[in-house]
Amino acid sequence: MKKKSVVIVEMGLRDGLQNEKHVLDADTRVEFARRLIEAGTKRVEIGAFVSPQWVPQMAGTADVVAKAFGEQNAGRIPKKIEFSVLVPNERGMQDAINSGVKEIAIFAACSESFSLKNINCSIDESFKRFEPVMALAKKHKIKVRGYLSTCFGCPFEGKVSEAKVVKLAQRMNKLGVYEISIGDTIGVADVGQVRSLFKKLKKVVPVKKLAGHFHDTRGQALANILAAFDMGVTVFDTSLGGLGGCPYAPGATGNVATEDVVYMFHGMGVKTGLSLEKLLAIDPWMSEKIQHALPSKVGKVGMLKPLGKVTVSK
Ligand code: HMG
Ligand code: MG
Repeated sequence: MKKKSVVIVEMGLRDGLQNEKHVLDADTRVEFARRLIEAGTKRVEIGAFVSPQWVPQMAGTADVVAKAFGEQNAGRIPKKIEFSVLVPNERGMQDAINSGVKEIAIFAACSESFSLKNINCSIDESFKRFEPVMALAKKHKIKVRGYLSTCFGCPFEGKVSEAKVVKLAQRMNKLGVYEISIGDTIGVADVGQVRSLFKKLKKVVPVKKLAGHFHDTRGQALANILAAFDMGVTVFDTSLGGLGGCPYAPGATGNVATEDVVYMFHGMGVKTGLSLEKLLAIDPWMSEKIQHALPSKVGKVGMLKPLGKVTVSK
């Protein structure tokens, strides 16, 4: 039976802001989190403990975590919100532990060239780096989510074999992550690919552990999400306004916009727990902060606003 609700994991603060030219300070990032949570967001990736040389936009993540959820929170954000940070290696994990987060996300690629460009090591090496990260997570009772990137295509190598993605999903699952987010890093997937890949993935990883992470480069993300939902996937990563993208994936645009996904699911009678009106109210504020318009379609025009009955004079 089709599920009547989905879980939206908000990416705006990490996948979104990591690719914006205009770098936001910690206070603005905390205010962004506060507004998202006010709109009903329950799961949010709040930043990344990656190298600031590689991704300067994510510098200050420890400060964001402290101001949003630590002693400095001052009651602005309810503590029960689930938030995570992206961690590439043991060094990042130490920063995560010091910050007091209860959840992290690790990430590996499905193509060697993207792995090298993004984290400066092979896929195999990245999995070796995850072993001490997972051991520390266990010791400190930190939940771990896993991402697989370039599952539908690589900006350097082109096609990526489904068999390789399935094998890496099994390997990621064996590490002990609680969820695996299947990434269309450069927004190249189509519905046919989504159906075919998720059919294979479901045979090796329980579908309730799979999430969809679609970038909207070619305008296919909503269709791809619907195709994955039809196959039983109920967790989707989205970014307010369609912000961002990966700085090491040339040509890729942002994640699918949270507002567009919420509009689609609410129209189908599927609950998201989010208020579309409140999300839309964040758009002009964020647009001003990053100094450009946001790509979200629903964000641009809003909800249907009837102009009144038209009378035709004869
Ligand atoms: P490296 O240069 O090979 O690192 O980078 P290294 O181990 O050789 O160390 C060099 C220096 O960096 C050392 O400092 C380390 O301490 C420091 P020094 O001794 O020279 O002073 N260092 C760090 N500093 C802060 N935080 C760390 C860290 N690690 C080492 N964690 C590294 C390797 C992995 C660090 C680098 O390549 C990196 O940070 N990459 C991250 C790139 C990134 O964030 N990409 C975007 C996120 S992934 C994504 O968007 C895809 C996703 O959305 C899913 C999808 O769409 O498919 C998740
Ligand atoms: Mg991404």
